[in-house]
Amino acid sequence: MTDATKTVALAADHAGYALKDQLRAAIEEQGLAVLDLGTNGPDRVDYPDYGHAMAQAIRDGRATRGVLVCGTGIGISIAANRHRGIRAALCHDVTTARLCRQHNDANVLALGARIIGFETARDCLAVFLSTDYEGGRHGDRIAKIDVPNA
Ligand code: RB5
Repeated sequence: MTDATKTVALAADHAGYALKDQLRAAIEEQGLAVLDLGTNGPDRVDYPDYGHAMAQAIRDGRATRGVLVCGTGIGISIAANRHRGIRAALCHDVTTARLCRQHNDANVLALGARIIGFETARDCLAVFLSTDYEGGRHGDRIAKIDVPNA
């Protein structure tokens, strides 16, 4: 994903906002547009609100990819994944960041600010944004993820 017309949405809770802001700078350095959905300070907030805001932004077409950050990356990704068409992948290293794109066509990268440091997060993000979905055999599996009428 190198097209400057593509927008990356960012969202985090209070445990993740500092890492979010560091990643925002890294994305902007690549010339990509950023949609920052908050939160923007240390005051306590509820991670589902930010997971849902991310999902809505992707579903509305306001962003093509997203990055979610909370303490572990778990709660905020669970919330986002409740939305049809959202495939949020919790990644801890560049291998999971690569495979979530190649095999799962993940559209949201979830990171745990209390689990990994900035350099690992930045490397995960770089791989997430630059790796293409492989298609092929993975397509039928991805089509089964969203449950009809659920
Ligand atoms: C907040 O304390 C923490 O629970 C949250 O950031 C996240 O780790 C939840 O999954």
